[in-house]
Amino acid sequence: MIPILLPRYFQQRVLNWFNAHGRKNLPWQQKKLPYHVWLSEIMLQQTQVATVIPYFKRFIKQFPNLSSLAAANLDDVLSLWAGLGYYARGRNLHRCAQMIEQEYAGKFPQNLIQLQSLPGIGRSTAGAILSLGFDHAAAILDGNVKRVLTRFHALTGWPGLSAVNKTLWELAERYTPTRQTAAYTQAMMDLGGLICTRTQPKCDQCPLQTHCLAYNTGNPVNFPSPKPSKKLPIRSIQMLILVNQQQEILLEKRPAAGIWGGLWSLPECPSDEDSKNFSKKHYYCATEKASQLTQMRHTFSHFHLDIHAVVMLVKEWRPPLMESDRIVWYNVQQLQKKGLATPVKKLILFALEFSATQPKIQVRRVYPTIK
Ligand code: ADE
Ligand code: SF4
Repeated sequence: MIPILLPRYFQQRVLNWFNAHGRKNLPWQQKKLPYHVWLSEIMLQQTQVATVIPYFKRFIKQFPNLSSLAAANLDDVLSLWAGLGYYARGRNLHRCAQMIEQEYAGKFPQNLIQLQSLPGIGRSTAGAILSLGFDHAAAILDGNVKRVLTRFHALTGWPGLSAVNKTLWELAERYTPTRQTAAYTQAMMDLGGLICTRTQPKCDQCPLQTHCLAYNTGNPVNFPSPKPSKKLPIRSIQMLILVNQQQEILLEKRPAAGIWGGLWSLPECPSDEDSKNFSKKHYYCATEKASQLTQMRHTFSHFHLDIHAVVMLVKEWRPPLMESDRIVWYNVQQLQKKGLATPVKKLILFALEFSATQPKIQVRRVYPTIK
């Protein structure tokens, strides 16, 4: 087991690395104005540094300070923003400038609570404004820092979980130095952005390598843990493609409420019931032996539906006199005209394509699975 690295040594390594390799000439680092830091941090929230640079320069040219931005027309702000995406950020930027003008006399408040109550500013962005803009000892936890800390400690659990996020904030605060916080903050962003990258971390160039637990597992990219995929329950059904002598298919309208409500669908037979008896009993069809056509999985938000498509040729159809309008014999050439559930449409097309290559739908072969 590798001994832990005390925060002061952690900081020292990160800061030494930054002095030699960090980014020091980004346009928002020139003057270290809170306005510049804030503007760049908002732009960098979902966008790469290289993309942000020209936007940042145009912005400060047109709006050299907070008051000019607050006084601007929203349309002018958004047209300068165009291309950066996530336009809510542009709108929040403008609103935030106006709020700082009105509520804080045009000066950025210098505490986390007040900063975080402004539009578009979360806890990490507030920390970045305080540390980079004012050199206050505030921690950040953006995507880059999360990745470095998760790997350094080989933390398991998806960082989107609040327990994991809480641990990460505790670590971020533990390592953040009370002096040289601005340099440290930029250093951690750069370490995450340049060295400890998502898919191919350059551990050989990393100042934290000797004590990095993820590096020591031999496979640092296993961290952070991915978002867990939900284990969905599986329901299994047979869908009956009942084909009559005119090559029409029996469709049934689904009840208005529930899955595929109001759409036309194929008869569904429970997987443990005999399809021949089922067709007779519920659809008045005397059929030849059933054959498996294909199977497919359709995934809903809360379960997988495994569909076994079964083709049956209908020799005779004898509905009772009071035939319900819930059932139709459907001419497959009119496929476009009815509202069909997606997998049903796929299955019918599949059956159609398949029967086109056959003199008539054969009933004893199993055909390959379609996706
Ligand atoms: N991402 C967010 N803020 C950044 C900064 N100041 N430098 C580099 N990447 C960043
Ligand atoms: Fe990231 Fe590798 Fe450095 Fe560990 S050693 S912090 S995995 S770059």
